[in-house]
Amino acid sequence: MSEEAAFNEAIAIQNKSPFVLVDVTAKYGNEHVALAGVTCQFEHGTSSALVGANGSGKTTLLRLLCGLAQPSEGRISPDPSEKTVALVAQQHGQRAWMPLTVSNVLRMSRFRDRGLVKRFRPIDRIIIDDAAERLEVSDLGNRQFGELSGGQRQRVMVAQALAHEADVLLMDEPITGLDMPSQETILRIIDEERRRGRIVVVSTHHMDEAELCDQVILLSNRIVASGSPGAVLTNKNLQEAFGLRMAHGDEDDCVFHGEHDGHADGVIHVFSDHGHGHDHGAKPKTRH
Ligand SMILES: Nc1ncnc2c1ncn2[C@@H]1O[C@H](COP(=O)(O)OP(=O)(O)OP(=O)(O)O)[C@@H](O)[C@H]1O
Ligand SMILES: [Mg+2]
Repeated sequence: MSEEAAFNEAIAIQNKSPFVLVDVTAKYGNEHVALAGVTCQFEHGTSSALVGANGSGKTTLLRLLCGLAQPSEGRISPDPSEKTVALVAQQHGQRAWMPLTVSNVLRMSRFRDRGLVKRFRPIDRIIIDDAAERLEVSDLGNRQFGELSGGQRQRVMVAQALAHEADVLLMDEPITGLDMPSQETILRIIDEERRRGRIVVVSTHHMDEAELCDQVILLSNRIVASGSPGAVLTNKNLQEAFGLRMAHGDEDDCVFHGEHDGHADGVIHVFSDHGHGHDHGAKPKTRH
């Protein structure tokens, strides 16, 4: 895309209304409250990080934003059906069942515009190639998706989401299980998509990823704190969100000092990456 086209697109999207959640409660079944009393806002042209312990409601909030879950109380405005939303789901290290090549997986991103039986336009091919290039998966086109490594699959899924050209890009733990260069690619893409005027929301256990976002929402089945990374990622807030686990370090732990305004003495725990898939059971790890 030319700079001028990107600028025009950013202006067009920026004029769109933000997502606003007012006093939203989300339940699974009649009993299990995953999120309660959530009030927050997601502006176009900004990135937000959802941070919290396992089970704190990060995935549930993303599901609400793409309409896969409905609030049992409160409201989301506009309704997610009024925006185009792309979600990169949380990976669990499972083998993918899809008997498809990577090219086919990427082509699926354009079905929304073209319909299942219509031919692809040249522009569809350009958009797919551009997304594949940005995620460095162009050379995987002929490979079976199910035979890729977890990190390769994750990059293909992000490329698929980009090619969707949605107003809203949601990514559930997008850098978990990725090698360092791939993590950097995803972080760059979060920034680029935000600059293009999209709403970008990621869930993460990586504090360095959260710090790069415009807004951090710290969850513990409710909002513990929200705002700029410096204001939210304080030792006090993190202890409130993560509980006693944050108060007890071990010799693997180290301390992250003074990169945030207003909490130069803060201690931030970074969850180490334990390979592909989920961070369940991951031991909190902090760093200097
Ligand atoms: N399909 C479901 N049925 C019942 N309860 C669910 C379901 N999905 C999630 N929950 C519960 O809702 C709460 C929030 O879960 P959620 O998946 O949103 O957490 P999370 O912050 O994404 O956790 P993680 O870091 O492990 O991915 C948890 O208590 C979880 O057990
Ligand atoms: Mg989750």
